Amino acid sequence: MVVLSYLQARQLLEARKDSQSLAKVSLDLNLTESEVRLQPENVLFPAGESLGWKSIEEINANETACYYVENDKAKAIKGFSEFSGRVYGLMGTESAPTMLISGIPMHRIKDTNPYQDTLNKIKAIKPVMGEVLDTTTGLGYTAIEAAKTARYVVTIEIDPTAQEIARLSPWSQALFDNPKIMQIIGDAFDEIKRFDAESFSAIIHDPPMFSLAGDLYSREFYQQAFRVLKRNGRIFHYIGDPESKSGARVTAGVIRRLQEAGFKRVTRAPQAFGVVAHKA
Ligand SMILES: C[S@@+](CC[C@H](N)C(=O)[O-])C[C@H]1O[C@@H](n2cnc3c(N)ncnc32)[C@H](O)[C@@H]1O
Repeated sequence: MVVLSYLQARQLLEARKDSQSLAKVSLDLNLTESEVRLQPENVLFPAGESLGWKSIEEINANETACYYVENDKAKAIKGFSEFSGRVYGLMGTESAPTMLISGIPMHRIKDTNPYQDTLNKIKAIKPVMGEVLDTTTGLGYTAIEAAKTARYVVTIEIDPTAQEIARLSPWSQALFDNPKIMQIIGDAFDEIKRFDAESFSAIIHDPPMFSLAGDLYSREFYQQAFRVLKRNGRIFHYIGDPESKSGARVTAGVIRRLQEAGFKRVTRAPQAFGVVAHKA
């Protein structure tokens, strides 16, 4: 499937301005490059689909959306979530795309990019081995990255709309294709209670901000995380910019509650905007 953001549309428009008949662009949001044919009426993609220049111009004009091509038409990758009452969409970057929820990016994009953001989270609890619980799937980047070294990854997403967006993103395909990743649609706060004690070697906890998902920052949730972790297991907990006023305040509360839940060696991981805690 061809997926384009304004960045590729811009490249195509520039190539047309330069009167090129062929151009190399990414048709999967920067994962690979393909050669496309620039024709007077449209762009012809390698699998035989095409897209008219008017559509390419429309994609170029919208910097916060991505589009897939179906039946020679561009369709925005977005959806309205009945669950949250918010609009979800995919937004291209120079690296991996992020998901916008009511305009708020799901990953860090300021001074970094969603892929580097993911690598920082994984690095914070390296090496990621054994059985991993990824509490909130999102676009699946942490689950996909963890699955490269883990035995398997269980990942939980509360919102089917978020999963639908992931299904259309080239960067999230391993979520659906990698047999080492098991997806659960449910509330991590409830689902975590279903796992046996000492089931996981590591937990990646990357919840929405505190104001949107307070229960995922509660002592009760941390007690469950502690219970399902094996001895010597650890959790990475994303929080947000520790330098910001709210980030600093939330971090202090998270550290206290993780300790109350039984975690030891609770340390800050400022590069990853979170903390790491151990089950001794
Ligand atoms: C910051 S994103 C996770 C990003 C993800 N780690 C990645 O690499 O793409 C948070 C996700 O948690 C989901 N979510 C919110 N509350 C949840 C809950 N209680 N249980 C499971 N998922 C939840 C949101 O729908 C959103 O997709």
